[in-house]
Amino acid sequence: MNSGLEGVIAAETVLTHVDGARGIWWLRGHGLAEVIAEHGYEGATALLWQGFAGEGLDRARIQSAFGAGRVAAFARLPLWLDAARRLPLAEAVRLALAAVADESAPAGIAAALPVGIAALLRSRAGDPPVAPDPTLTTAADFLRMLSGDRPAPASAAALDAYLTTVIDNGLAASTFAARVIASTRASLAAAVLGGYCALTGPLHGGAPGPVLDMLDEIGDAAGIDAWLEQKLAEGERLMGFGHRVWRGRDPRADALKAALERLGPDRGRIGFAEAVERRALAALQRKKPGRPIETNVEFYTALLLEAVGLPRDAFTPVFALARSAGWLAHALEQQKTGRLIRPAAAYIGPKPQAA
Ligand code: ACO
Repeated sequence: MNSGLEGVIAAETVLTHVDGARGIWWLRGHGLAEVIAEHGYEGATALLWQGFAGEGLDRARIQSAFGAGRVAAFARLPLWLDAARRLPLAEAVRLALAAVADESAPAGIAAALPVGIAALLRSRAGDPPVAPDPTLTTAADFLRMLSGDRPAPASAAALDAYLTTVIDNGLAASTFAARVIASTRASLAAAVLGGYCALTGPLHGGAPGPVLDMLDEIGDAAGIDAWLEQKLAEGERLMGFGHRVWRGRDPRADALKAALERLGPDRGRIGFAEAVERRALAALQRKKPGRPIETNVEFYTALLLEAVGLPRDAFTPVFALARSAGWLAHALEQQKTGRLIRPAAAYIGPKPQAA
C-alpha cells in the first residue's frame, strides 16, 4: 500500500518530464528558459496540444483560438455571473467552469477562466465586465479585462512568464484528477472542473495566498527567525516550501524570481521575501535534517502575482487559468492513449460475523 502513490507510474506522457532530484523540467523536449523566452503561454499551449487538439498548431493559431474562446465566454457571462458574484472567489470560479458546455473545444474551455475571473473580480468592486480583445495574448487581455486599460508591457510579460512556467508539471494531483475523469470518457469540461477542484487545496495550488499572509505576519526582518521557529514548533507547515517531486531546487521558482526581477522598480517586496526564504530553508533543515525541503513554485508565484496587481484570493484561480492548458493536454492524451484508471483499496474494516 502506498497512500500517496509516491513513485507510482500511472501514465505514459509526451507532455512534460519532471526530474525533481536533478532539477529538470522539459516540455515536449524544450527546456524551461527556452519555453518562457521563445514560446510564451500560447506557444507552450501549442506545443502541449499538438497532435491532441489538432495538427499544425502554433503560437498564432492558439492565440486566435483563445481570443475567440474569450469572446464566447464573455457572451456566456449572464448564465452564471449573477449567481456567483456573492460567493468567495474560488467557489465562484467553480460555477464559471460548471457553466462550460460538455461539447466545448479545448480553447473554449480554457478561455472561460480569464474571462470569468476578471468579471468576478470587477463585479465585487461594483464594476461591469470588460469585453475581451481577442487579438491580445491571454496574459495581456486578462490584465486588460481586470483594469479596463491596456497593461504595461512589463506586467503582461511577467504574467505571461508565470502562466508559461506553471502550465504543466507532470502528474500533479490536479492533473491526475483530470486524467482520472478523462479516463471514464467524461467530457474535457468535466476534467478541467475536476482538476480545478483538486488544485484549490492548500497542499497544492492553494498555497500562494498564504505565502503572502506569512510575509505579512512576519512583518520585518527582525521577526523572521522567531516567527518561523514558533510555527514549526506548533507543527505548522511553511507555505511555499516542500514538494512531492521537487526534492532539489525547483527551476520554476528561479524562473519566476527572474521574471519578478525584470519588473524593475515594480517588483514588490522581493528583498524581504529572499530573507524569509533563506531563514525558512535553514529552519526546515534544522527541523527535518534528513528530508530535502526546498522553495517551491508557489513562493515566488505569490510575489509575482502581487506585483502585477492581483488580490491574493485570485492566486489559485489564476494558477488554474495557467494549468488548464496542461489539464486539457493530459485529458486529451488520456483519452487517446489511456485506459480507465481504477486502482484498488486494501479493505481493513471489520468482517461480517459469519465470515
Ligand atoms: N513546512 C514544514 N514541514 C514540512 C513542509 C513545510 N513546508 N513540507 C513538508 N514538511 C514535513 C511534513 O510536516 C512531514 O513531517 P512528518 O514526517 O514529521 O509528518 C514531512 O515533511 C513530509 O511531509 P509530506 O506531506 O509527507 O511530504 P510530501 O512530499 O507529500 O510534501 C507538500 C509535499 C504537501 C507540498 C508539503 O511539502 C507541504 O505541505 N508544503 C507546504 C504547502 C505548499 O507549499 N504547497 C504548495 C506545493 S507546490 C504545488 O503544488 C504547485
